[in-house]
Amino acid sequence: MLGNIRDKMNISGEFDMNTVKLTINEQEVEIESGKTVLEAARSADIYIPTLCHHPDLPPAKGGRPAAAVYQGEVKIENSMPDEPDKGCGLCVVEIEGESDLVGSCATPVRDGMVVFTENDRVQAKRKENLIPILASHRHACLTCAQQEGCPRTQCSSNVPENERCCPQFGHCELQNVANYIGISDATPKWIPTDLPIFRDHPLFERDYNLCIGCTRCARACRDLRGVEAIGFVYDENGRVRIGTLAPTLADSGCKFCTACVEVCPTGALTDKSVRAGKKEEDLVPCREACPARIDIPEYLRLIARGKQDEAHAVIREKVPFPAILGRVCIHPCEDACRRGEVNEAVAICALKRYAADQEKGLWKQKSQATEETGKKVAIVGAGPAGLTAAFYLRKQGH
Ligand code: SF4
Ligand code: SF4
Ligand code: SF4
Ligand code: SF4
Ligand code: FES
Repeated sequence: MLGNIRDKMNISGEFDMNTVKLTINEQEVEIESGKTVLEAARSADIYIPTLCHHPDLPPAKGGRPAAAVYQGEVKIENSMPDEPDKGCGLCVVEIEGESDLVGSCATPVRDGMVVFTENDRVQAKRKENLIPILASHRHACLTCAQQEGCPRTQCSSNVPENERCCPQFGHCELQNVANYIGISDATPKWIPTDLPIFRDHPLFERDYNLCIGCTRCARACRDLRGVEAIGFVYDENGRVRIGTLAPTLADSGCKFCTACVEVCPTGALTDKSVRAGKKEEDLVPCREACPARIDIPEYLRLIARGKQDEAHAVIREKVPFPAILGRVCIHPCEDACRRGEVNEAVAICALKRYAADQEKGLWKQKSQATEETGKKVAIVGAGPAGLTAAFYLRKQGH
């Protein structure tokens, strides 16, 4: 904390004029102006529960609904055109001198602000705001005394299967937030819904029964990807409904980038091929399939930005002959490429060759050999594997 404060002092030991000081739960916090109360709290390790907020997305509050969305063939017209997104309301805090509680994720910091994140009033309001979210979402397991370690395949409380938690249980953001806030006794029993579930398109599944209308996915699609294949509306009951802007994802212009899946806090959008605890391997299967474990996503990103020399340096971290490999490798990475499920695999091998053919020698500037060890290693065979072994052994001083 002290280090953070020092970082923001100018050379005379005064605070930078672009920062503000506020007090959160009697703790002094200093942060750049323009940040939100939530960001200030997080910078000081003060937890505030959130659901619609995501650090990479603009706030939900104020977002405009679409005219209509589709859940498959079902078209849902927006019934409240003048009503912007209200946000989940779980991040409320009290600010001294203000009569109403405010959403910390969309409230900018001010100098001298005094914030309370955990008093009785704030906690009660969060609990109240969680009620409508859980009223339209299955929550029997969240209130169950036997939830710890329960596989949910058999229920000792006789909860029907379609009312039990989904496989996201244990890794679910909604579950964590509900556990933290506490579920009000006033939460009505969830009445099972029969909304569409889509399992047949590439890469990810959609189960609208598990959607809480946080609109993160729509913001990720529009603001991170610039696509806007999905949006939200208010249905005739005033409930936020998410859907595609045309009957299918493909017709809506979806690029199958799965950014929406990445930000979804529930089991509504799930990646088809990600196993529990194996996200890194399963989301980047090309790197796992590459015998040399080259950081393929990184070099493809660099090539896309016109940085062939840097891309070549990334490849050379693992293999000393990118130009040769770019011509002879049988590229098992391309068999694993997830893009193949959508249309065709990325031309990973040919792009390696391209980067190698364009390189200007950047890798040599960073290349270092350790001190001579005096040890010798005999290598049998002078093919790509033998030469690679020789190259890296030499770099290690042998
Ligand atoms: S499946 Fe039944 S016993 Fe298990 S956590 Fe859910 S409600 Fe409780
Ligand atoms: S998303 Fe799944 S695990 Fe999370 S609260 Fe809902 S049903 Fe339970
Ligand atoms: S997968 Fe499709 S809907 Fe999801 S963010 Fe990407 S483009 Fe948008
Ligand atoms: S699909 Fe997921 S991210 Fe999108 S609104 Fe529903 S819960 Fe939120
Ligand atoms: S997290 Fe702030 S309104 Fe939802």
